Amino acid sequence: METYLDNAATTKPTDKVIEAVVKSLKEMYGNPSSLHRKGIEVEKEIKKTRRLVSKALGCNEKEIVFTSGGTEANNLAIKGFVKANNRLGNHIITSKIEHKSVLSLYEDLEKSGYNITYLDVDQEGFVSLKQLQESLSDDTILVSIMHVNNEVGSIQPIKEIAEIIKEKNPKARFHVDGVQSIGKIVYCVKDLQVDSLSISGHKFHGPKGIGALYINKDTRISPIFLGGGQEFNLRSGTENVPGIFGLGEAVKELIENQENNIKTLNNLKAYLIDLIETELEDIIISSKLDDRYAPHIINVALLGVKSEIMLHSLEMDGVFVSSGSACSSKGKGYSHVLEAMQMKRSHIDSAIRISLSHFNTKEEIFFAVKRIKYHVNSLRQIIRR
Ligand SMILES: Cc1ncc(COP(=O)(O)O)c(C=O)c1O
Repeated sequence: METYLDNAATTKPTDKVIEAVVKSLKEMYGNPSSLHRKGIEVEKEIKKTRRLVSKALGCNEKEIVFTSGGTEANNLAIKGFVKANNRLGNHIITSKIEHKSVLSLYEDLEKSGYNITYLDVDQEGFVSLKQLQESLSDDTILVSIMHVNNEVGSIQPIKEIAEIIKEKNPKARFHVDGVQSIGKIVYCVKDLQVDSLSISGHKFHGPKGIGALYINKDTRISPIFLGGGQEFNLRSGTENVPGIFGLGEAVKELIENQENNIKTLNNLKAYLIDLIETELEDIIISSKLDDRYAPHIINVALLGVKSEIMLHSLEMDGVFVSSGSACSSKGKGYSHVLEAMQMKRSHIDSAIRISLSHFNTKEEIFFAVKRIKYHVNSLRQIIRR
């Protein structure tokens, strides 16, 4: 049996998504820029997907730009914004717990002379709003804060942050990395008052290599890829048509089932946390069971057991989880998120992330926790010897 509990790293595409990708490869393989029928039929499908994505996010379809995923959407939003607005100011605010696709950009911008403020987070994984208020100045051009943290699942108070920005410096723009929130929280970008937001298909049962950026029509950005002028001149390059077809299906399924899926995830999360708490000792759960945390991410430290050893032990049972953030854990051996939350080294070293999909079952979770218990006990015994 395969028990896949690493859904924050990526998800399995649904059958309908796969069918849509195959249809594009086998039948609708025209170039959407071509003037003939083969191109026009594909262009129409792309328009449909754009409409669906704009419906899911609550914006106008002209405010959606397809990208190769979350990383590129973050790059386009941030680099593209800085490129277009560099004369307005030199200061940018972000948080210490952003995904590497955002943090690496700011490290780079710092080298080119930008002044970057990295907001602290508290021990529960929430950014300091007081520090945000104090840091905003007339020189601030951009604030970028993620919606759901990919390691611990904390949901940042995006609307409240937007209101603080509007009050202190209405000229500053607000970018949100929404890669882990789409389909897990019901929201609308207009209501959140954000200026740009990134999503990625493979995090919600769509294909890899496709994502989108919502960019408010009043926010000026410059393209970072130049060429044929596709995507309203903001992202040149022949469109990833199979990816867009697959994304369209994934978004359709998301719109149809979002509320039920979130309910399922909340039930599964409650069941998992309850089992962990009753079956395991010497643990610290960083992802609480309340609505300040996303329903699909559970970060738990199994004190005394190195997370990588646990990950590989579980892998032998067909149970797949992650240590820290799967997307960045190859680079560094520790979690910058748990570090920012001021967790002890022993906690950071033993933290695993279990991340759920609405397709997971209680049986799978039961099996995974039993296997975790078995490995925790045997590994702790070896360590104590
Ligand atoms: C919060 C967050 N942002 C961005 C990304 C990058 O997305 P992609 O894999 O589509 O480039 C990820 C991937 O893990 C993520 O979790």
